[in-house]
Amino acid sequence: MDKLTIRDVDVAGKRVFVRVDFNVPLADGKVTDDSRIRAAVPTIQHLLAQGARVVLASHLGRPDGKVQDGLRLRPVAERLTQLIRRNVPVTGDALGVGTADAVKRLRPGELILLENLRFHAAEEKNDPKFAEQLAAYADVYVNDAFGTAHRAHASTVGIAKLLPAYAGFLMEQELAQLSNLIGFPPRPFAAIVGGAKVSGKLKVLDTLVGKVDVLVLGGGMANTFLLAQGKAIGKSLAEHDMVDEARRVLATAEEKGVRVILPVDVIVAKEVTRGTEYKTLSAEKIPASWHIVDIGKATLDLMEAALADVRTVFWNGPLGVFEIPSFAHGTKAIARFLADRCDAGATVVVGGGDSVAAIQQQGLASRFTHISTGGGASLEFLEGRELPGVAILLDRPAAAPEGAPA
Ligand code: 3PG
Repeated sequence: MDKLTIRDVDVAGKRVFVRVDFNVPLADGKVTDDSRIRAAVPTIQHLLAQGARVVLASHLGRPDGKVQDGLRLRPVAERLTQLIRRNVPVTGDALGVGTADAVKRLRPGELILLENLRFHAAEEKNDPKFAEQLAAYADVYVNDAFGTAHRAHASTVGIAKLLPAYAGFLMEQELAQLSNLIGFPPRPFAAIVGGAKVSGKLKVLDTLVGKVDVLVLGGGMANTFLLAQGKAIGKSLAEHDMVDEARRVLATAEEKGVRVILPVDVIVAKEVTRGTEYKTLSAEKIPASWHIVDIGKATLDLMEAALADVRTVFWNGPLGVFEIPSFAHGTKAIARFLADRCDAGATVVVGGGDSVAAIQQQGLASRFTHISTGGGASLEFLEGRELPGVAILLDRPAAAPEGAPA
């Protein structure tokens, strides 16, 4: 990696500000998916073991600059406390005299978590004064928040201009895995792209269609592609203003010899709700009053056949309305199939969102090559965009040419 990491800095006795992405789902005051917290543990443990005084900071949700009790970080601190088996105190606010004192009192090997940074509007505005206030807590800055690296905020960019800034282990691992994926992927290389909308994924589709051998499309976004092929999709979710773009992606795929797999049969439902009537139909002509909610068995077979010999896969987005259990079968089946492909030696990288939930719900996570903690960030990275939270970190000096004096 061309960025310096926490391996490159002596943190003993130093105050280290660690930006983590603890933006995790909560229900009834409990963390329902702790993957992002777990993923930051190696960096936290390393810094504590080196004798750093660790100040952790994260956002949670989108409180828009106001304190929202439901978005306090206490449940996150409780989960982290369990994971690292030591108490993780949370400050009442990211700023203030009490917080500054608590940070000052930290001894080597101790940590504290600042309250939700986004309770201050200054965070998302990348306000220089707020960045300065955060920087005043520390001697060294570490960014381990890959999931937020596409945001240019005070805690991801502003502060990194004021302190020596290093990548944490999670950041390093994410960048390495995603770079490998688009660098020299063992072929055949397939991308499976699902989720609701084409619009949010158009750029990544444009990039992927130039790199993959097989492109599998599912979820709500596949409906727009079916429309582009002149098929009737009934009342299904689709973006009618994206049909031309979908047609363009299909034309590029054809030009480049990329095999595109779209649903040939689908589960359709009367309503997109639990307990509704549903059935399987050919994807050729969906009657006017039905909604496409999942892929059918023939589509799953077709997808599995197309993916049978691939050596690299990138997967982002569910293939159906995953949050309703009756319509989660396609997504779950692909997750199981990909876990088997991994066991057989393929590299499978999963980026963000409900595709990750489908893997976790079935206890398959450990079988995958890499499950990114970044949804938006991993897509922007694969689009080839520079992530501001990464660009600002210290560059690794170029190695001296061979034979040069030491
Ligand atoms: C995410 O969950 O994608 C990150 O934590 C960034 O959150 P945001 O989209 O609210 O900036």
